[in-house]
Amino acid sequence: MTDPRPGLIGRRLEGVDGIIAVSSGKGGVGKSMVASTLALHLAEKGHSVGLLDLDFTSPATHVILGIDGLFPEEEYGIIPPVTHGINYMSITFFALDKPTPLRGADVSDAITELLAITRWGDLDRLIIDMPPGLGDATLDVIRFIEGIRFLVVTTPSKVAYETVRKQLALLKKLQIPIIGVVENMTREPTDYVSLKVENDGAQYLGAIGYDERLEESIGDEARLKETKFYAEASKLYSKIN
Ligand SMILES: Nc1ncnc2c1ncn2[C@@H]1O[C@H](COP(=O)(O)OP(=O)(O)OP(=O)(O)O)[C@@H](O)[C@H]1O
Ligand SMILES: [Mg+2]
Repeated sequence: MTDPRPGLIGRRLEGVDGIIAVSSGKGGVGKSMVASTLALHLAEKGHSVGLLDLDFTSPATHVILGIDGLFPEEEYGIIPPVTHGINYMSITFFALDKPTPLRGADVSDAITELLAITRWGDLDRLIIDMPPGLGDATLDVIRFIEGIRFLVVTTPSKVAYETVRKQLALLKKLQIPIIGVVENMTREPTDYVSLKVENDGAQYLGAIGYDERLEESIGDEARLKETKFYAEASKLYSKIN
C-alpha cells in the first residue's frame, strides 16, 4: 500500500505563506539559536509564525525558548500549542526528555509523521530548525515541502564553511531557493566567509558576533531579547522576506 502521509503534508501546510529551513552542513554553528530568535523576531513584528524543531537527536529550541510543561491538543491531528507568540511543535512533546535514537529510515518516518499530523492553520511563516548535516532530514524536507527556502548558518571557521559550501552546491543542484548565509559567532571582522559566499553564488546576509553573555539568557525569552545576539540577529532577519 502506498503511504498516504506525503499527500497529506501539502494539505497541512497549505495555509502557510512561507517556509524557512534553518540549516547548516555543520553542527554546533547556531542553527537552533537562529531558528528560535528568527521566530521570536517575526512574532514581535506581528507576524503569525510557527516553529518546528526537526532535530530529533538533539532538539534544542525548547531549551533556548524555555518551553516546559506544554502539550499539543489532538483534534483531527495535532494542534501546535502557542508559546511566546509562536505556534510550536517538537518531537520532545512525544519523546518527553527520553533519548530518541533513530536509524535513517526511522528518521524519515518520524519526519513524515510529524509533518502529516501537525495542523499549522494559517501562518505567515513557518521556521524549521534542522538537524546538522546534509542527510535524510534535509532531503526529506526538500522532497515533502513544496516551496521551502533555506537559510544557511556558518561560523567564520574555514572548516565549517567547507561543509556549508557543499550544502550550497547541493541546494543549487536541486534548485532549492537559498535565502542567504548568516555568519555566526564572529570574534573579529574578516571577509573570508562573505567573499566565499558571494563566490559561491549565494547572498551573504551578515554577521552575528560571539556573545559572551548569551548563555545566561538561554531559557528566558525576555532576557534573550535583550542580548547583543538578538540585536545583531534582528538586523539580519529584517532583510529576510
Ligand atoms: N553568537 C553566539 N555567541 C555565543 N554563543 C553562541 C552564539 N550562537 C550560538 N551560541 C551557542 O552555541 C551553542 C550551539 O548553538 P546551537 O545549539 O544554536 O547550534 P546548532 O547549530 O543548532 O547545533 P546542532 O548542530 O547541535 O543542532 C549553544 O550553546 C548556543 O547558545
Ligand atoms: Mg540545533
